[in-house]
Amino acid sequence: MNSIILIGFMGAGKTTIGKKLAKELDYKFLDTDEMIVSREGMSINDIFDRYGEEHFRTLETELLAELVENNVENVIFSVGGGLPVRKDNHFYLKKLGKVIYLSVVESTIRERLAGDTQRPLLRGSEKEVADRINSMLEKRDPIYREVADIILQTDNMSVSEIVEEIIK
Ligand code: S3P
Repeated sequence: MNSIILIGFMGAGKTTIGKKLAKELDYKFLDTDEMIVSREGMSINDIFDRYGEEHFRTLETELLAELVENNVENVIFSVGGGLPVRKDNHFYLKKLGKVIYLSVVESTIRERLAGDTQRPLLRGSEKEVADRINSMLEKRDPIYREVADIILQTDNMSVSEIVEEIIK
């Protein structure tokens, strides 16, 4: 299928870039987090608190399988930062289209997500959050690289430059 799937850590800019890219290419834009929130009728924080992270991961996998089954085309997807961590999801990501990893270094993530309250995995003191970002990024970066067709190091690029690069 011919869609584009943006993957990367929380704060990598998947949603911002995805929306602009969709506009430029005249594609539809879909965000897996937004789809899950709208289907479940509750926030990501509430899903994690009430049912736990594993349940959220299962919702992600089910949604992905459904998108592939429905042959969804011409879409720019922004997927949750943890979605590619489940290796079973790689099959579906590849089926949907081209997978692009928006890579950012740890300091960029910390700056962008300072004070965020919407992400259950980033709750805690500044030190706890920084340590968690560090260890999660270390674990996830090789997984993102493994599933990606294209890798873009985006720290020093503007949104327009990133969009242009992807279109090229
Ligand atoms: C998560 C990333 C979030 C959201 C959830 C868990 C993660 O999405 O799916 O809070 O495990 O990295 P974004 O990457 O869009 O912030």
